[in-house]
Amino acid sequence: MVDAPRQAVTKAVLTVAGLGTRFLPATKATPKEMLPVVDKPAIQYIVEEAVAAGLTDVLFVTGRNKTSLEDHFDRAWELESVLEAKDDEGRLGLVRSAGLGADIHYTRQGDPKGLGHAVLCAERHVGQVPFAVFLGDDLIDPRDPLLATMLDVQARHGGSVVALLQVPREQAHLYGCAAVESTDEEDVVRVTDLVEKPEPADAPSDLAIIGRYVLAPEIFDVLRDTGPGRGGEIQLTDALRTLARSEDHGPVHGVVFRGRRYDTGDKLEYLKAVVRLAVQRDDLGPEFGPWLREFVASMEQEGPVSR
Ligand code: G1P
Repeated sequence: MVDAPRQAVTKAVLTVAGLGTRFLPATKATPKEMLPVVDKPAIQYIVEEAVAAGLTDVLFVTGRNKTSLEDHFDRAWELESVLEAKDDEGRLGLVRSAGLGADIHYTRQGDPKGLGHAVLCAERHVGQVPFAVFLGDDLIDPRDPLLATMLDVQARHGGSVVALLQVPREQAHLYGCAAVESTDEEDVVRVTDLVEKPEPADAPSDLAIIGRYVLAPEIFDVLRDTGPGRGGEIQLTDALRTLARSEDHGPVHGVVFRGRRYDTGDKLEYLKAVVRLAVQRDDLGPEFGPWLREFVASMEQEGPVSR
């Protein structure tokens, strides 16, 4: 019997309900996902990444204080009419570009019961098809596409796919960590077990889960039966572990990512993302790059300077 062709993934779930406590005080009244990376909110890069990978249906799982995020992906009539009156096509394009190509929906998480619970909140919208999950803190450099590879692996093998990054073992406690077996494809592994935020000694490998997933819809049933795990929260990692160890729900594969990824919820990583993305911009790089070089040279000569 010939297998029916697998359905193309079109739905993206973006979890953005977190409080952003690592980025206070900026995140007291502003969602962390709305902090600008150069001149675009971090979350707009993620929506653009989803659209670039062919995902046209975006569901945000939000929480309290996320109104400005919803406004950002809505039309801004007043702003548009002012810019129209000035014939400012350039800026009009920028105002209208947020969320272009995606049909955007929202649902609220309500209780902050963890990432697994946030994903479960998407069940009614997603239905019984595979879907992608994007974590709002993780920015993948647009020059290093990751999702297309993950979708391709899911289309060929079915089941679920996680994104993995090699990290120093002493950082394992910050991530979900995977036990893996190699496959005959480079940078594609079979996940055999997962542990959420292990102590370095208990980490099954140095491969950490980063914030991109392509999930089989069976994850919803498993999540419903998954009790609180690390930190008392319902962990997506724990539900994926159940899938990885079960015979019935299709495999879990990992795609090992070797590109640039920034945790924009972390102040230092956020600064690196801004600098890296700014230097390669045509409108900023030609001035910013040489200034940066000079600045670094002056730091080397004099120690840290204040301007
Ligand atoms: C979440 C996941 C974790 C994953 C990480 C990637 O943790 O629970 O498995 O490795 O995202 O950024 P969080 O960073 O939300 O604590």
